[in-house]
Amino acid sequence: MSSKLAPWVLRTSTRALRSAPRQQRRAFQISTARRSETLNVHRDSPDNNLSIPFKFSASNEKLIQEVLSRYPSQYKKAAVMPLLDLGQRQHGFTSISVMNEVARLLEMPPMRVYEVATFYTMYNRNPVGRFHVQCCTTTPCQLGGSDGIMKAIEEQLGIHHGETTPDKMFTFTEVECLGACVNAPMVQINDDYYEDLTPETTKSLLVALKEAAEKTGASGFAPGLPGDYGETEQPGKTMGGGQAKLGGPGYSASGATLPAPGPLSKRISCEPMHAPTSLTSEPPTGESMMRKDGAF
Ligand code: FES
Repeated sequence: MSSKLAPWVLRTSTRALRSAPRQQRRAFQISTARRSETLNVHRDSPDNNLSIPFKFSASNEKLIQEVLSRYPSQYKKAAVMPLLDLGQRQHGFTSISVMNEVARLLEMPPMRVYEVATFYTMYNRNPVGRFHVQCCTTTPCQLGGSDGIMKAIEEQLGIHHGETTPDKMFTFTEVECLGACVNAPMVQINDDYYEDLTPETTKSLLVALKEAAEKTGASGFAPGLPGDYGETEQPGKTMGGGQAKLGGPGYSASGATLPAPGPLSKRISCEPMHAPTSLTSEPPTGESMMRKDGAF
Protein backbone atom coordinates (compact mmCIF):
# COMPACT_ATOMS: atom_id res chain seq x y z
CA MET A 1 0.00 0.00 0.00
CA SER A 2 2.76 2.38 0.98
CA SER A 3 4.60 1.69 -2.30
CA LYS A 4 1.42 2.66 -4.18
CA LEU A 5 1.08 5.91 -2.30
CA ALA A 6 4.71 6.98 -2.68
CA PRO A 7 4.47 8.55 -6.21
CA TRP A 8 1.35 10.44 -5.23
CA VAL A 9 2.96 11.84 -2.06
CA LEU A 10 6.03 12.87 -4.01
CA ARG A 11 4.02 14.61 -6.73
CA THR A 12 1.77 16.43 -4.30
CA SER A 13 4.57 17.68 -2.09
CA THR A 14 6.61 18.97 -5.07
CA ARG A 15 3.52 20.81 -6.38
CA ALA A 16 2.83 22.26 -2.94
CA LEU A 17 6.38 23.49 -2.66
CA ARG A 18 6.25 25.10 -6.10
CA SER A 19 3.00 26.91 -5.45
CA ALA A 20 4.00 28.12 -1.96
CA PRO A 21 4.28 31.95 -1.94
CA ARG A 22 7.94 32.87 -2.29
CA GLN A 23 9.34 35.82 -0.44
CA GLN A 24 10.71 38.50 -2.75
CA ARG A 25 14.15 39.55 -1.54
CA ARG A 26 16.39 42.00 -3.28
CA ALA A 27 19.65 43.30 -1.91
CA PHE A 28 19.97 47.05 -1.72
CA GLN A 29 23.42 46.83 -3.24
CA ILE A 30 25.23 44.22 -5.21
CA SER A 31 28.78 45.21 -4.33
CA THR A 32 30.34 44.47 -0.97
CA ALA A 33 29.61 47.18 1.55
CA ARG A 34 32.76 49.12 2.54
CA ARG A 35 32.36 50.51 5.99
CA SER A 36 34.27 53.59 7.08
CA GLU A 37 37.04 52.93 9.53
CA THR A 38 36.26 56.12 11.36
CA LEU A 39 34.21 55.64 14.48
CA ASN A 40 31.28 57.98 14.73
CA VAL A 41 31.21 57.52 18.47
CA HIS A 42 33.63 59.00 20.94
CA ARG A 43 35.94 56.70 22.87
CA ASP A 44 38.02 58.21 25.65
CA SER A 45 41.74 58.12 24.92
CA PRO A 46 44.73 59.74 26.66
CA ASP A 47 44.67 62.55 24.03
CA ASN A 48 40.96 62.98 23.89
CA ASN A 49 38.84 62.84 27.02
CA LEU A 50 36.65 65.07 29.12
CA SER A 51 39.34 65.76 31.69
CA ILE A 52 41.45 67.69 29.12
CA PRO A 53 40.14 71.23 29.37
CA PHE A 54 39.76 73.50 26.35
CA LYS A 55 39.33 77.26 26.25
CA PHE A 56 39.57 79.52 23.22
CA SER A 57 42.55 81.87 23.25
CA ALA A 58 41.94 85.60 23.72
CA SER A 59 42.56 86.33 20.04
CA ASN A 60 40.23 83.54 18.97
CA GLU A 61 37.57 84.87 21.33
CA LYS A 62 37.72 88.15 19.42
CA LEU A 63 37.30 86.24 16.16
CA ILE A 64 34.33 84.40 17.65
CA GLN A 65 32.65 87.72 18.47
CA GLU A 66 33.22 88.78 14.87
CA VAL A 67 31.72 85.52 13.57
CA LEU A 68 28.73 85.75 15.92
CA SER A 69 28.01 89.32 14.82
CA ARG A 70 27.09 87.94 11.39
CA TYR A 71 24.02 86.12 12.73
CA PRO A 72 20.91 87.27 14.60
CA SER A 73 21.42 86.42 18.28
CA GLN A 74 18.61 83.82 18.28
CA TYR A 75 20.38 81.98 15.46
CA LYS A 76 23.89 81.96 16.85
CA LYS A 77 24.06 78.19 16.51
CA ALA A 78 24.54 78.88 12.80
CA ALA A 79 28.15 79.66 13.76
CA VAL A 80 28.82 76.07 14.81
CA MET A 81 30.99 75.22 11.80
CA PRO A 82 33.36 78.22 11.90
CA LEU A 83 33.71 77.80 15.67
CA LEU A 84 34.55 74.11 15.36
CA ASP A 85 37.10 75.04 12.71
CA LEU A 86 38.67 77.66 15.00
CA GLY A 87 38.76 75.13 17.83
CA GLN A 88 40.45 72.57 15.59
CA ARG A 89 43.05 75.09 14.44
CA GLN A 90 43.83 76.08 18.00
CA HIS A 91 43.84 72.60 19.54
CA GLY A 92 45.15 70.62 16.55
CA PHE A 93 42.03 68.46 16.27
CA THR A 94 38.34 68.56 17.17
CA SER A 95 38.43 66.91 20.56
CA ILE A 96 35.43 66.19 22.75
CA SER A 97 36.39 69.20 24.88
CA VAL A 98 36.48 71.47 21.80
CA MET A 99 33.00 70.28 20.82
CA ASN A 100 31.65 70.79 24.33
CA GLU A 101 33.11 74.29 24.53
CA VAL A 102 31.51 75.20 21.19
CA ALA A 103 28.18 73.81 22.46
CA ARG A 104 28.49 75.88 25.63
CA LEU A 105 29.30 79.09 23.74
CA LEU A 106 26.48 78.64 21.27
CA GLU A 107 24.02 77.38 23.90
CA MET A 108 23.35 74.25 21.88
CA PRO A 109 22.82 70.69 23.11
CA PRO A 110 26.28 69.04 22.82
CA MET A 111 24.70 66.27 20.72
CA ARG A 112 23.88 68.80 17.97
CA VAL A 113 27.55 69.80 17.84
CA TYR A 114 28.69 66.15 17.79
CA GLU A 115 26.33 65.55 14.87
CA VAL A 116 27.97 68.31 12.84
CA ALA A 117 31.52 67.29 13.76
CA THR A 118 30.94 63.64 12.89
CA PHE A 119 29.21 64.43 9.59
CA TYR A 120 31.90 66.63 8.03
CA THR A 121 35.19 64.89 7.36
CA MET A 122 37.23 68.09 7.65
CA TYR A 123 36.84 67.90 11.41
CA ASN A 124 39.57 65.58 12.64
CA ARG A 125 38.29 64.00 15.81
CA ASN A 126 41.65 62.42 16.53
CA PRO A 127 45.09 64.00 16.49
CA VAL A 128 46.72 64.26 13.07
CA GLY A 129 50.38 64.73 12.19
CA ARG A 130 52.03 68.05 11.49
CA PHE A 131 51.25 67.49 7.79
CA HIS A 132 47.85 66.04 7.05
CA VAL A 133 48.16 64.60 3.55
CA GLN A 134 44.73 64.03 2.04
CA CYS A 135 44.79 62.27 -1.31
CA CYS A 136 41.70 62.47 -3.50
CA THR A 137 40.76 59.24 -5.24
CA THR A 138 37.38 60.17 -6.75
CA THR A 139 36.80 59.47 -10.45
CA PRO A 140 38.58 62.42 -12.18
CA CYS A 141 41.60 62.03 -9.91
CA GLN A 142 41.57 58.27 -10.37
CA LEU A 143 41.47 58.66 -14.14
CA GLY A 144 44.39 61.09 -13.79
CA GLY A 145 46.46 58.54 -11.85
CA SER A 146 45.57 58.85 -8.15
CA ASP A 147 46.39 55.15 -7.68
CA GLY A 148 50.00 56.03 -8.48
CA ILE A 149 49.88 59.00 -6.10
CA MET A 150 48.52 56.82 -3.27
CA LYS A 151 51.30 54.31 -3.91
CA ALA A 152 53.95 57.04 -4.02
CA ILE A 153 52.76 58.41 -0.65
CA GLU A 154 52.75 54.94 0.89
CA GLU A 155 56.25 54.26 -0.39
CA GLN A 156 57.62 57.60 0.73
CA LEU A 157 56.03 57.70 4.18
CA GLY A 158 55.96 53.98 4.89
CA ILE A 159 52.36 54.09 6.10
CA HIS A 160 48.94 53.22 4.71
CA HIS A 161 46.05 55.62 4.51
CA GLY A 162 44.43 56.22 7.88
CA GLU A 163 47.81 56.05 9.62
CA THR A 164 50.31 58.50 11.10
CA THR A 165 54.08 58.19 10.86
CA PRO A 166 55.82 57.19 14.12
CA ASP A 167 57.41 60.67 14.40
CA LYS A 168 53.88 62.14 14.17
CA MET A 169 54.99 64.25 11.22
CA PHE A 170 52.59 62.94 8.55
CA THR A 171 49.04 61.63 8.63
CA PHE A 172 47.84 60.08 5.39
CA THR A 173 44.13 60.05 4.55
CA GLU A 174 42.23 59.00 1.44
CA VAL A 175 39.43 61.46 0.67
CA GLU A 176 36.65 62.09 -1.81
CA CYS A 177 36.57 64.93 -4.34
CA LEU A 178 38.16 68.14 -3.07
CA GLY A 179 36.83 70.23 -5.94
CA ALA A 180 40.04 70.62 -7.93
CA CYS A 181 39.19 67.94 -10.50
CA VAL A 182 40.44 69.96 -13.46
CA ASN A 183 43.92 69.76 -11.93
CA ALA A 184 43.69 66.07 -11.06
CA PRO A 185 45.33 64.20 -9.48
CA MET A 186 45.81 66.28 -6.38
CA VAL A 187 46.40 66.21 -2.65
CA GLN A 188 45.50 68.62 0.12
CA ILE A 189 48.22 69.15 2.71
CA ASN A 190 46.97 71.13 5.69
CA ASP A 191 45.32 74.14 4.01
CA ASP A 192 47.13 73.90 0.67
CA TYR A 193 46.25 72.12 -2.55
CA TYR A 194 49.03 70.55 -4.64
CA GLU A 195 47.79 69.64 -8.09
CA ASP A 196 48.74 68.06 -11.44
CA LEU A 197 50.79 65.56 -9.48
CA THR A 198 52.91 62.69 -10.69
CA PRO A 199 54.34 60.02 -8.37
CA GLU A 200 57.74 61.75 -8.68
CA THR A 201 56.52 65.27 -7.82
CA THR A 202 54.51 63.81 -4.93
CA LYS A 203 57.56 62.14 -3.46
CA SER A 204 59.73 65.25 -3.84
CA LEU A 205 56.99 67.33 -2.21
CA LEU A 206 56.95 65.02 0.81
CA VAL A 207 60.74 65.08 1.00
CA ALA A 208 60.69 68.91 0.89
CA LEU A 209 58.10 69.03 3.67
CA LYS A 210 60.14 66.75 5.89
CA GLU A 211 63.34 68.72 5.25
CA ALA A 212 61.54 71.98 5.95
CA ALA A 213 60.22 70.59 9.23
CA GLU A 214 63.70 69.44 10.24
CA LYS A 215 65.37 72.73 9.31
CA THR A 216 62.80 74.86 11.09
CA GLY A 217 62.72 72.60 14.14
CA ALA A 218 59.04 71.78 13.78
CA SER A 219 57.99 68.61 15.58
CA GLY A 220 55.20 66.13 15.03
CA PHE A 221 51.51 66.55 15.82
CA ALA A 222 49.93 69.92 15.46
CA PRO A 223 48.80 71.11 18.88
CA GLY A 224 47.97 74.77 19.34
CA LEU A 225 50.61 77.38 18.59
CA PRO A 226 50.63 80.59 20.54
CA GLY A 227 49.07 82.18 17.44
CA ASP A 228 45.59 83.23 16.47
CA TYR A 229 44.84 80.00 14.72
CA GLY A 230 46.98 77.52 16.54
CA GLU A 231 49.98 75.81 15.08
CA THR A 232 48.52 75.18 11.65
CA GLU A 233 50.62 77.03 9.10
CA GLN A 234 49.14 80.23 7.83
CA PRO A 235 50.24 82.28 4.84
CA GLY A 236 53.25 84.32 5.80
CA LYS A 237 54.16 82.12 8.76
CA THR A 238 56.56 79.24 8.87
CA MET A 239 56.58 76.09 10.88
CA GLY A 240 59.18 77.62 13.14
CA GLY A 241 57.08 80.74 13.64
CA GLY A 242 59.28 83.04 11.46
CA GLN A 243 58.17 84.96 8.41
CA ALA A 244 58.02 83.01 5.15
CA LYS A 245 58.21 84.34 1.63
CA LEU A 246 55.11 83.49 -0.38
CA GLY A 247 54.58 83.18 -4.11
CA GLY A 248 57.09 82.45 -6.87
CA PRO A 249 59.14 79.46 -5.88
CA GLY A 250 56.98 78.74 -2.85
CA TYR A 251 57.58 79.08 0.86
CA SER A 252 61.13 79.60 2.04
CA ALA A 253 62.57 80.11 5.50
CA SER A 254 65.56 78.95 7.53
CA GLY A 255 67.16 77.55 4.38
CA ALA A 256 64.17 75.36 3.59
CA THR A 257 62.04 75.82 0.50
CA LEU A 258 58.66 74.37 -0.29
CA PRO A 259 56.97 74.43 -3.69
CA ALA A 260 54.18 76.96 -4.01
CA PRO A 261 50.74 75.38 -3.61
CA GLY A 262 48.83 74.88 -6.86
CA PRO A 263 49.73 72.92 -9.97
CA LEU A 264 53.15 71.26 -9.85
CA SER A 265 53.14 71.25 -13.66
CA LYS A 266 53.72 74.07 -16.11
CA ARG A 267 50.19 75.29 -15.55
CA ILE A 268 49.61 78.47 -13.56
CA SER A 269 46.01 77.70 -12.72
CA CYS A 270 43.46 75.51 -14.47
CA GLU A 271 44.05 76.75 -18.02
CA PRO A 272 44.26 74.09 -20.77
CA MET A 273 47.39 71.97 -20.47
CA HIS A 274 48.11 72.59 -24.17
CA ALA A 275 46.76 75.24 -26.58
CA PRO A 276 43.13 76.39 -26.10
CA THR A 277 40.65 74.39 -28.15
CA SER A 278 37.55 76.54 -27.74
CA LEU A 279 36.70 80.26 -27.72
CA THR A 280 39.80 80.83 -29.78
CA SER A 281 38.50 83.74 -31.91
CA GLU A 282 37.83 87.31 -30.84
CA PRO A 283 34.26 87.79 -29.56
CA PRO A 284 31.96 89.55 -32.04
CA THR A 285 31.58 93.25 -31.39
CA GLY A 286 29.63 96.21 -32.67
CA GLU A 287 26.52 96.03 -34.79
CA SER A 288 26.48 92.30 -35.21
CA MET A 289 25.61 92.04 -31.49
CA MET A 290 22.63 94.40 -31.68
CA ARG A 291 19.12 93.83 -32.91
CA LYS A 292 18.35 95.92 -35.92
CA ASP A 293 15.17 97.34 -34.36
CA GLY A 294 17.24 98.83 -31.52
CA ALA A 295 15.66 96.72 -28.75
CA PHE A 296 17.90 94.94 -26.31
S1 FES B 1 38.00 64.20 -8.20
FE1 FES B 1 39.81 64.76 -7.17
S2 FES B 1 39.46 66.84 -6.81
FE2 FES B 1 37.64 66.24 -7.75
